[in-house]
Amino acid sequence: MCHGNKMKSIVLICLLFAAIKASHSASSTWGVRNVTDTLFLNENVFYPAKPRQAQIVYYDIYQNNNRAISAIYLQDQFKNSTGPTNTLVSGGPGYTYASVQLTTFTSIGLNVTFVVYVK
Ligand SMILES: *[C@@H]1O[C@H](CO)[C@@H](O)[C@H](O)[C@H]1NC(C)=O
Ligand SMILES: *[C@@H]1O[C@H](CO)[C@@H](O)[C@H](O)[C@H]1NC(C)=O
Ligand SMILES: *[C@@H]1O[C@H](CO)[C@@H](O)[C@H](O)[C@H]1NC(C)=O
Repeated sequence: MCHGNKMKSIVLICLLFAAIKASHSASSTWGVRNVTDTLFLNENVFYPAKPRQAQIVYYDIYQNNNRAISAIYLQDQFKNSTGPTNTLVSGGPGYTYASVQLTTFTSIGLNVTFVVYVK
């Protein structure tokens, strides 16, 4: 039996864990890498900090051999939980292109590595 209040606290606990998890790592993954997939790119992206500014950066991926992206790994190189917040804004796994938006914390830059696999 699930009582209203019990459900509420379960949801609250889940949200809490999600928040803790999010604050501990700014790394993101989209898609799944199959053993047969090949490495398409492995690139480090660095933006220096700008005083009193949060920066919004777009990182675009184009696969010009018509091979669909299978997985995108965005690895945060800051290990102090001040890495960017990342959103896949278009394309991604199953597409030959992708655009990722990275939003930095105010007064903090970013240093991430993109690793992309294609089918
Ligand atoms: C991974 O690749 C193998 C060989 O091409 C294929 O049989 C399998 O279905 C693929 N798995 C996924 C999850 O795409
Ligand atoms: C970004 O992080 C990598 C891995 O920690 C490091 O080797 C590299 O020097 C950093 N880049 C800059 C510009 O700080
Ligand atoms: C986290 O580490 C990075 C790289 O060393 C640094 O630029 C950034 O300011 C640090 N964040 C904080 C809150 O100290």
